[in-house]
Amino acid sequence: MAGGESMSEKERIVSSNPMDDEKDGMDLSLRPQTLAQYIGQTAIKQELSVYIQAAQQRQEALDHVLLYGPPGLGKTTLALVIANELRVHIRTTSGPAIERPGDLVALLNELEAGDVLFIDEIHRLPKVVEEVLYSAMEDFFVDIVIGQGPTAHPVHFTLPPFTLIGATTRAGLLSGPLRDRFGIVAHMRFYTVAELQTIVKRTADLLQTKITDQGAFEIARRSRGTPRIANRLLKRVRDFAEVAQQAEVDDELAIRSLKLLHIDDAGLDETDRHLLETMIKYYNGGPVGVNTLAANIGEEVETLTEMVEPFLLQLGLVKRTPRGRVATPAAYQHLDLPYFDQKNK
Ligand SMILES: Nc1ncnc2c1ncn2[C@@H]1O[C@H](COP(=O)(O)OP(=O)(O)OP(=O)(O)O)[C@@H](O)[C@H]1O
Ligand SMILES: [Mg+2]
Repeated sequence: MAGGESMSEKERIVSSNPMDDEKDGMDLSLRPQTLAQYIGQTAIKQELSVYIQAAQQRQEALDHVLLYGPPGLGKTTLALVIANELRVHIRTTSGPAIERPGDLVALLNELEAGDVLFIDEIHRLPKVVEEVLYSAMEDFFVDIVIGQGPTAHPVHFTLPPFTLIGATTRAGLLSGPLRDRFGIVAHMRFYTVAELQTIVKRTADLLQTKITDQGAFEIARRSRGTPRIANRLLKRVRDFAEVAQQAEVDDELAIRSLKLLHIDDAGLDETDRHLLETMIKYYNGGPVGVNTLAANIGEEVETLTEMVEPFLLQLGLVKRTPRGRVATPAAYQHLDLPYFDQKNK
């Protein structure tokens, strides 16, 4: 290891992993219920509201929807909102949970006309299941073989028209044929600081925590463009406020608490800074392969590419090149390290 403590993804406050959100009931109670309450993702909301109205007027099922984007941006929330707006039931499951075609048929069988089936991590659907899904999505039927050996026989199931909503972190993880069967494809973007500020204020309201606009702003700008992180940071800052017996969260308290949590002005934590430092100090700023980097900082490659890197790419601190990752001049500046371009030496 290239020195420094590694911090496992589980311990990261700025992780966009769901972690304990659901356990402490935070997640459910904070989820917006309608498109109007859903903050940000304006283009997606506008498009969806048209399609939802049209489907309702025609009394048809909404076209299948694929939501893709980094964790914690509100894909699950949006799926629930869509079903709510359509006034239909939603069944939620995830790719790895559907092991055999029969599992899928069982799920589809429970749907009523117009209902939504939400499959999270749809890129992890087993191939045999995915193939059965094609005809279900396209023509609302499935043909599967029941039984084994001499008693095996094909069975044809007709399904009610339904809407499949699939969620994945990257559209590129899906096979072409599956991707092509979604009529509506929505790319979820990182949220702006202003949007996150609104989310923080809304959540504070629901948690009955008083917060100033500036306090919400300081939390928002350290939230890595991600509502889940914004809500989590707010929760931590609220703890600090309670211990300090401060009735209202203001910017001073927010800044002080987040500093104690080792989250810097840009929202980077120790893992992020460790990654950038490793690239710069041990690999001259790169290019360096992602596997090498992951090994060096003691993280899984997947954690690095899904949880750490997207935001660093978004901030322009890291670049992806065919030969590996490169730390940009902005990364040097962020860490207060002198930058000189090795290639021009
Ligand atoms: N647009 C939004 N407005 C307000 N709150 C939001 C919004 N989007 C997400 N949230 C909040 O952020 C949290 C995370 O959202 P959600 O679970 O939907 O993310 P996700 O994209 O499904 O993440 P994952 O990829 O990990 O499944 C939830 O607690 C939700 O209340
Ligand atoms: Mg989700």
